[in-house]
Amino acid sequence: MSYLGVTKNQHATVQYRVFLTILMSFHKHIKPSVHRLETYTVKGKPLSPELIKLNQNENPFDLPEELKRELLEEFLTFHWNRYPDVLPKELTEALSRSLGHPIEGIIAANGSNELMYTILMAIVGRGTKVLIPSPTFFLYEKIVHVMEGEVVNVPMKEDLSFDVENIIATAKKEKPSLIILNSPNSPTGQSAAIGDVERILTETDSIILVDEAYIEFSDRPSAQSLLKKFDTLVILRTFSKAFSLAGLRVGYLLAQPSLTVEISKPKIPFTMNNFSQLVAVKLLQKKELMDERIAYIKKQKEFLYQNLRTIGEINGIRVFHSDTNFLIFKLKSDVKVLFEKLLNDNVLVRDVSSYPMLKNTLRVNAGTESENMAFLTALKKYV
Ligand SMILES: Cc1ncc(COP(=O)(O)O)c(C=O)c1O
Repeated sequence: MSYLGVTKNQHATVQYRVFLTILMSFHKHIKPSVHRLETYTVKGKPLSPELIKLNQNENPFDLPEELKRELLEEFLTFHWNRYPDVLPKELTEALSRSLGHPIEGIIAANGSNELMYTILMAIVGRGTKVLIPSPTFFLYEKIVHVMEGEVVNVPMKEDLSFDVENIIATAKKEKPSLIILNSPNSPTGQSAAIGDVERILTETDSIILVDEAYIEFSDRPSAQSLLKKFDTLVILRTFSKAFSLAGLRVGYLLAQPSLTVEISKPKIPFTMNNFSQLVAVKLLQKKELMDERIAYIKKQKEFLYQNLRTIGEINGIRVFHSDTNFLIFKLKSDVKVLFEKLLNDNVLVRDVSSYPMLKNTLRVNAGTESENMAFLTALKKYV
């Protein structure tokens, strides 16, 4: 028998050679769970003044130039030859004041991605079950695989909202050590109601990680009010979205101090550099500026939503409601061609079509008004 001109015997020989190559090289020392992974890449083009970059849910506004200069000036007085704090003391104190949460219940780090690793390092070992609603932020599943844990997926409902009944039922059956709730969720844009988060906390005995990367854009309240009542709750936040600081890598988590003590044990020390800490502390004092920007972005997201709906009525595009600074929309046909055409026009969006349930789907984040107009003009040209 032959398939594509390759006989069964030839196929076996190729497989045997692959096996031998692995056995005879450094590959045999790499964990199989890592070997199976793919390297993370983001498809697009390098930054340029022409590029309309709407693919990573970033804030379209950089910090004001005057503020940047002021911060750089202040940073000149720092000792660059000295280590920063093991954990960033000033930022932790500033977060504590700003959020009304005890210092001992906060860990700040080099982006919330780092804290995802830290939390999972503390919880997940070989065979540990982690319940992950799907589709959600890719990194959680990847880390579980690296740690040789077991992913228990619970699909979202058809409208991409959280299937809370199924999450609770599956958690009762599978008894996962950890449940991930990315709320508002990326890439779907939808939130879990706070009452539902409380139900999951009450009805399961798992640790619940609520990733609130987009909470500042949400119309629903944060899960922070539940922290006093539940020692199984961890909330993860970032400065990368609403706070315009994706390039400086600042994230933090909130939990009861008894849980943060355990989570901090596997943490890599010194990961927050002095400059990022300085800038983050300053931004916490710029509430008015941040609120103004958030309001603008929410308005632009709504503008995009209405326009995508109008375009969709003619072209059969389905746009989903979003509680974040981005939207997803589903086309009737393959999106790869559309993605490339938009990119040719220097409009960079995200192809999320390889996520479960998101076939033929693109994601776009709200940019400035003119960026959003440029996106819509390009889109209308091609659909
Ligand atoms: C769900 C989710 N969590 C966290 C992050 C941000 O991580 P970081 O703080 O490392 O920039 C993102 C960014 O894309 C995200 O979508």
